Amino acid sequence: MWCGSLAIVLLLLGISQARKGLGPGDQDWGYVDVREGAHMFYWLYYTTANVSSYTERPLVLWLQGGPGGSSSALGNFKELGPVDTNGEPREGNFVQHVNVLFIDNPVGAGYSYADNTSLIVKNNEELIDDLMSFMLHFYKLHKEFKSVPLHIFTESYGGKMGPALAIRLNEAMKAGDLAEPGVLKSVTMGNPWISTRHICREHSKYLFVNGLIDEDGVAEIDAQEERILSALKKHEFSNATDEYSQWFELMQRLTGGIYLYNTQTHVDPSEDRTYGYGDDLNRFMEQNVSEALHINGSVYASQVFDVLTILHGDRLISDINAIPRLLNETSVKVNIYSAQLDALVPTSATLALIKDWTWNNKSEYLQADRTAIVVDGKLQGYEKVGGNFGMYWINRSGHLAPSDNPTAMQYVLKSVTQYDDSESTDDSGLMQMINLLVQTDKQS
Ligand SMILES: *[C@@H]1O[C@H](CO)[C@@H](O)[C@H](O)[C@H]1NC(C)=O
Ligand SMILES: *[C@@H]1O[C@H](CO)[C@@H](O)[C@H](O)[C@H]1NC(C)=O
Ligand SMILES: *[C@@H]1O[C@H](CO)[C@@H](O)[C@H](O)[C@H]1NC(C)=O
Ligand SMILES: *[C@@H]1O[C@H](CO)[C@@H](O)[C@H](O)[C@H]1NC(C)=O
Ligand SMILES: *[C@@H]1O[C@H](CO)[C@@H](O)[C@H](O)[C@H]1NC(C)=O
Ligand SMILES: *[C@@H]1O[C@H](CO)[C@@H](O)[C@H](O)[C@H]1NC(C)=O
Ligand SMILES: *[C@@H]1O[C@H](CO)[C@@H](O)[C@H](O)[C@H]1NC(C)=O
Ligand SMILES: *[C@@H]1O[C@H](CO)[C@@H](O)[C@H](O)[C@H]1NC(C)=O
Repeated sequence: MWCGSLAIVLLLLGISQARKGLGPGDQDWGYVDVREGAHMFYWLYYTTANVSSYTERPLVLWLQGGPGGSSSALGNFKELGPVDTNGEPREGNFVQHVNVLFIDNPVGAGYSYADNTSLIVKNNEELIDDLMSFMLHFYKLHKEFKSVPLHIFTESYGGKMGPALAIRLNEAMKAGDLAEPGVLKSVTMGNPWISTRHICREHSKYLFVNGLIDEDGVAEIDAQEERILSALKKHEFSNATDEYSQWFELMQRLTGGIYLYNTQTHVDPSEDRTYGYGDDLNRFMEQNVSEALHINGSVYASQVFDVLTILHGDRLISDINAIPRLLNETSVKVNIYSAQLDALVPTSATLALIKDWTWNNKSEYLQADRTAIVVDGKLQGYEKVGGNFGMYWINRSGHLAPSDNPTAMQYVLKSVTQYDDSESTDDSGLMQMINLLVQTDKQS
């Protein structure tokens, strides 16, 4: 039991519950029952920035792609969390600047699980319902964040989840159901799989100009992508995903097994080419993480293939209107970042989609200058931000941009969240006092 004085100090800091998990700083984690028998896992890292209260910094919600990728594993330990799987501090981690909330979503991904696989979501609407249910509980558990700016960051398949979630969250906040109205500030999508149609039209071009296939390969890939699009047109959604799997195999065969997520890395075929489903990360999550967090390690990723199977038919269905709707109907800002070495979602596909969108005040975006992002004298990418929309090009990066180019991604984080690092206060005295109290508590 924590003693009263510690509780008061924590209250002053704006923390309702804070624990030591794995890595530096205060954390909280656990399960929220989003439906009966459906348990969603989250891991919250309070910022390690030099602040007098955590609530001075925004809250970033990270949603992994997949579907079925684990935010608490891949996002946390391979991309933007405070430590890597060796327990070493990660340069350029997000937690040093902002509070980060990882959710294993949908139920069945990572440490989230269902009592019965029949409870795994079958489409994006059900998935968003669960996330809404989670957020409702989260703001009850962590009231300190009710008025803290919230920014959603997603990767890959998150391009389908992020905007849909933002629309629902913004509505609920307006009604005062969750947090204060207007707390949701932005949704930012990395290498987002938003429109299958746009993406399938760019793969062959990308591979061709990068010297990975020749004209014959272009013809073969285009023919295969046509099968995906034709299945989608006929609403044969499961068949579309089957054809997509064949596209994947064809692309691997034609390129000699290129690493799709970053064409310039993983030249050794024995390297882990999965989206975080590899044995090493699994072992680390099942053993080290479960031990540190006192949770059941056998649960980890035990249902991820059920998630992939059950969402098989929904996977390539696109809602390309969610983002223009968000821009038309809310003041939530929308940003996309795209990495130049990603062959899965080529930057040109994202640009083609932006070109096809119409939204109120798009002219503000169109008229904005596209400028170089230069950090410490080095070119890291480009940005074009106007009105409520921003596009970021990330240099020297693949699909997992925060891990490939942390310098550029810290720039994006700062630019998007506008966190204020100008008046940090010295909290070392206070931290010493808390550590002392925690020690005393453990002994008592
Ligand atoms: C994870 O656990 C294994 C087995 O106990 C241990 O050898 C390894 O050092 C641990 N890794 C970290 C980063 O703590
Ligand atoms: C799982 O749910 C289905 C559908 O509700 C039910 O038929 C089945 O008996 C359940 N299985 C278990 C092991 O509870
Ligand atoms: C998709 O459907 C078509 C037409 O029914 C069929 O010819 C094709 O084999 C199916 N694709 C796969 C990968 O099963
Ligand atoms: C841990 O999870 C596994 C897999 O879901 C389950 O079979 C086992 O009963 C759980 N153990 C405990 C102690 O809850
Ligand atoms: C569009 O711009 C006008 C003028 O700057 C502003 O009043 C309006 O709120 C903007 N609309 C949206 C949806 O951002
Ligand atoms: C957004 O507004 C524009 C007009 O400014 C309109 O053409 C477009 O259809 C709207 N899109 C959506 C999805 O509401
Ligand atoms: C990306 O960065 C590298 C290394 O700094 C640089 O050599 C290259 O020119 C950059 N490429 C682009 C397209 O900006
Ligand atoms: C924290 O910020 C205060 C005020 O800016 C500064 O005096 C102090 O040195 C900082 N502490 C650390 C550990 O950086």
